[in-house]
Amino acid sequence: MRGEYIMEILLDKQTAVIFGAGRGIGQAMAQVFAEAQATVYVADIMLENAQILAQDIVDQGYKAVAVSCDVSDYESVDAVLEKAEKETGRLDIIINNAGIVTLDSFLETSQEDIQKLFNINLLGANNGMQAGIKRMRKYDKGKIINTSSFAGRHALPEGFSHYGMTKAGIIYLTQAGAYAGADYNINVNAICPGIIRSQMWEKILDSYAQAEQDREEAWRTSLKHFIPLKRGDQKPEDIAYTALFLASDLADHITGQAINVDGGAAMN
Ligand SMILES: NC(=O)c1ccc[n+]([C@@H]2O[C@H](COP(=O)([O-])OP(=O)(O)OC[C@H]3O[C@@H](n4cnc5c(N)ncnc54)[C@H](O)[C@@H]3O)[C@@H](O)[C@H]2O)c1
Repeated sequence: MRGEYIMEILLDKQTAVIFGAGRGIGQAMAQVFAEAQATVYVADIMLENAQILAQDIVDQGYKAVAVSCDVSDYESVDAVLEKAEKETGRLDIIINNAGIVTLDSFLETSQEDIQKLFNINLLGANNGMQAGIKRMRKYDKGKIINTSSFAGRHALPEGFSHYGMTKAGIIYLTQAGAYAGADYNINVNAICPGIIRSQMWEKILDSYAQAEQDREEAWRTSLKHFIPLKRGDQKPEDIAYTALFLASDLADHITGQAINVDGGAAMN
């Protein structure tokens, strides 16, 4: 964990299920939540990545379990939650972080890609919330966190159109989920990251540049173009720390919010 703080956030004895945790932002969330003493279920469609990460976390002396899951399938999502509940006797935190990006322009994006974006990004988050609230309500407490994006705050010109649509939808679903969870003390919030150089952004850079040199230039240009704050590159951990705060009892009175962690990319 980074730095030293007055407050230490601990999630000991809590169970956290993180969808899309096999790499990137989800991986950082799994690491940070494990360090905060939660038992972390690392759920991903790429099971091998989840297994390597869970083993690494266990080797550090923390608790993690790898599970295969396709978030676009409600039964698959619910099965992960059921497993976590059965094995630990509780379900405290769910993070709906799985996502994909497509980069064609609004007019050129295929029906197939739009459907895929919808199924994984939007329906995936919906599945985690619906199945999650149904399971969590008997405990009369819970924290659900969805990963949106600054692209969900306002349309971007560079071909993020249908991706942005799903991310805007996640913000709406977060508010709807917050209403649904409120009667059971279940908080539902979203985080809107800016630009993080994960495999997802590597894919975006692939489309911007052919040569390696161009690629680094494209990265610097992207930062300059999208992110006002000069320190620029965010790390996956920056998102994970906000998720940790939202999952803790320090955030008990925060619900239905979408929090920008993006260096100022979106200010609404
Ligand atoms: N990287 C960025 O700059 C950025 C910015 C804003 C928002 N986000 C969002 O953050 C989240 C994580 O992105 P990332 O950058 O770490 O990307 P990533 O591609 O590195 O990781 C995404 C993870 O989701 C998993 N996944 C994909 N489809 C799945 C499915 N159907 N079921 C289960 N798991 C699935 C992948 O296997 C992968 O492990 C995404 O929702 C993304 O849209 C990323």
